[in-house]
Amino acid sequence: MDLSETSAGTQVSDRNGSLIDEFRRVRAQSEALCAPLEIEDYGVQTMPDVSPPKWHLAHVSWFFETFVLKPFARDYAEFHPQFAQLFNSYYETVGSFHPRPERGLLARPTVAEVFAYRRHVDEVVMRLLADPPAPRAEEIRRRVRLGLNHEQQHQELLVTDIKHIFAYNPLRPAYHAGRAPRRAAPQPEWIGFPSGLYEIGHPGDGFGFDNEFPRHRVFVQAFLLASRPVSNAEYRAFVEAGGYRRAELWLSAGWQQVRAAGWDRPLYWERAAAGWEHITLAGRMPPDPDAPVCHLSYFEADAYARWCGKRLPTEMEWEVAAARLPVQGNFAASGWLQPAAAAQTGLAQMYGDVWEWTSSAYAAYPGYRPPDGALGEYNGKFMCGQFVLRGGSCATPDGHVRASYRNFFHPQDRWQFSGLRLADDF
Ligand SMILES: [Fe+2]
Repeated sequence: MDLSETSAGTQVSDRNGSLIDEFRRVRAQSEALCAPLEIEDYGVQTMPDVSPPKWHLAHVSWFFETFVLKPFARDYAEFHPQFAQLFNSYYETVGSFHPRPERGLLARPTVAEVFAYRRHVDEVVMRLLADPPAPRAEEIRRRVRLGLNHEQQHQELLVTDIKHIFAYNPLRPAYHAGRAPRRAAPQPEWIGFPSGLYEIGHPGDGFGFDNEFPRHRVFVQAFLLASRPVSNAEYRAFVEAGGYRRAELWLSAGWQQVRAAGWDRPLYWERAAAGWEHITLAGRMPPDPDAPVCHLSYFEADAYARWCGKRLPTEMEWEVAAARLPVQGNFAASGWLQPAAAAQTGLAQMYGDVWEWTSSAYAAYPGYRPPDGALGEYNGKFMCGQFVLRGGSCATPDGHVRASYRNFFHPQDRWQFSGLRLADDF
């Protein structure tokens, strides 16, 4: 199997030692995220999209076992013969898998067994990295890098799934004590970008997922982009102006969703005697009016933009604007796990805080081909019926995203830290 398209740019320049360090660091980070959990929290699944924390911890280990150890580690002895089925997510060419909505029905393996599975996989991966068989060494390192980036994606899912699990519980447990700082955000400004021929997609240096390739030229009309994402106060005005009751603001599928689900506010917002509150990982509190609104579906982001007489940016516009900026922002390492108000004027918060919905359907770039073999199922087969989000969030691991990074979700999904930034024609 040739992974050169999956991870083009992962020309192996690191020596084995630094990759082992990176492996240790990323694997430890997944476990650190689970440190605040009680044993009872690990097996809960509150909706089909949410996976129990112990399933995440096992699945990311299954990924290394399936795509690194079984093909490349000599005489590899799998930890348990049925884990291949229990912890395969969706790879049809690898074998069958346990139904996604029923992951929370698995009382066993125990959490202790899942951690023992992790230790087993860790030891063999690190032994393999320390002394990889020469002809396959580069391929092994490529796949380990893919596995580490995959595990980081699941670290964000751990955070968003734990939030959903805790928010579902009437006891309203808090995951941590972290609080985003409160400050007055600057008024949004419009920033103009000229029309022209631009290059988008992964430039080829460093890791990239297959869906970011190939880099290609696009013509972009002149456009305006808001200097910061839409805030809680701004979105609250839409809620209180009856935005959820006006069919003319919504896409047809969005209006059906609003009516069927009874939506009248963002996920996690609640009416309290003293006004709006929302559930955070630090407990229930009034939303910071200046912080970016989050937990919006594509439908809500689109309806809000229409209410403003504006629109969502395309993913091309977003990338053109972001490519000039350093990848800095409120990512998971801030420890807040909550969006914070913009601290600066000018184009702000393109990275971190909230994933920004774009109006672009998640589709293949011109010339894209999924990699051969099972790893071709990683991204390519999901290029239907979803929309692209850009920029990472307050739950994204530091160093994980870049200007060309394409996240994607269904238009009704809103349990991720997803918000919006307005765009307009120039
Ligand atoms: Fe996965």
